[in-house]
Amino acid sequence: MDLKKTIEKLEAALKEELEQVTTENELQNIKAKYVGKKAELTGLMKHMKDLPDDEKPAFGKTINEAKGRFTAMIEATKQTLHQRALDEKLRREKVDVTLDAPDYRLGTPHLLSQIVEELEDMFIGMGYEIKEGPEIETDQMNFENLNIPKDHPARDMQDSLYIGEETLLRTHTSPVQVRTMLEYGGTRPVKIICPGKVYRRDDDDATHSHQFMQIEGLVVDEVTTMSDLKGTLLEVAREMFGPDRQIRLRPSYFPFTEPSVEVDVTCANCDGAGCNICKHTGFIEILGAGMVNNNVLRSAGYDPERYQGFAFGIGVERIAMLKHDIEDIRNFYVNDLRFNSQFKR
Ligand code: PHE
Repeated sequence: MDLKKTIEKLEAALKEELEQVTTENELQNIKAKYVGKKAELTGLMKHMKDLPDDEKPAFGKTINEAKGRFTAMIEATKQTLHQRALDEKLRREKVDVTLDAPDYRLGTPHLLSQIVEELEDMFIGMGYEIKEGPEIETDQMNFENLNIPKDHPARDMQDSLYIGEETLLRTHTSPVQVRTMLEYGGTRPVKIICPGKVYRRDDDDATHSHQFMQIEGLVVDEVTTMSDLKGTLLEVAREMFGPDRQIRLRPSYFPFTEPSVEVDVTCANCDGAGCNICKHTGFIEILGAGMVNNNVLRSAGYDPERYQGFAFGIGVERIAMLKHDIEDIRNFYVNDLRFNSQFKR
């Protein structure tokens, strides 16, 4: 047997197979065929025993060297296959960063949320806490503790949606004020605003909605006066309608405040001169307020001899409509993006 010739033939065959191979599996088979335990090359070792002793080392060395070469060739092909697979993958997964991106629309907070947040920021700056409460309320919290007993005509001021004998959807956020006063137990001052949804039995039209938003405020302390209230309301009016606004207070009636006032702000459109928007009065009504009624203080455990307070109730939709000249309150609830997206913060 001519060992060199046999090896040369094997090497040529291996080379040819390696040129054809395309997958690592195939390569694995080739490896077994040429350098594995059952490979022809490995089998050549059998002939060693037939050789004279002095030829044995050279024979073994030749085979081992061939095995080393074959293995190196297979290894190199493996690298090539790897590289080819990687190139292919990169080609397939290429991203063209110069392509136009889809046009994402950037959202904006709802106008009502914007107004609530703006007022919250302002009141926090004045040392108020923000308090929230349940939308399903008891008659006790929503009415009784606010000096509106069962048969009081003032119940007609707020048409209510009852769920049970004693439970209803709150008609204002004033019950949160009651809850806070009760929580504070008549011994420490209160300075809070209560933003949230409220519900009334109403037929929806351009200016009425069975559900809307309020921010009510309450301050109770040992020396709290009407002029504190007035200064606070002026801040609200200016924050919402501009630094040059003036306010005026008109006497009014709420069961939970005494005296009660209705607050008007000078018309931002005509600066008080009179125009269509303010119906030629120069003023626009924006909210109700007053000094907390002694009965309300008493039923929450505050001694009216020691504590006084003021309260105000802001209708968020009304403010938004006045501020942005919006004619239909239903615009706030139908979630038409053409409406909503007009109010960028
Ligand atoms: N709670 C009143 C309402 O919803 C608003 C208000 C609050 C008025 C506080 C005066 C004082 O109509």
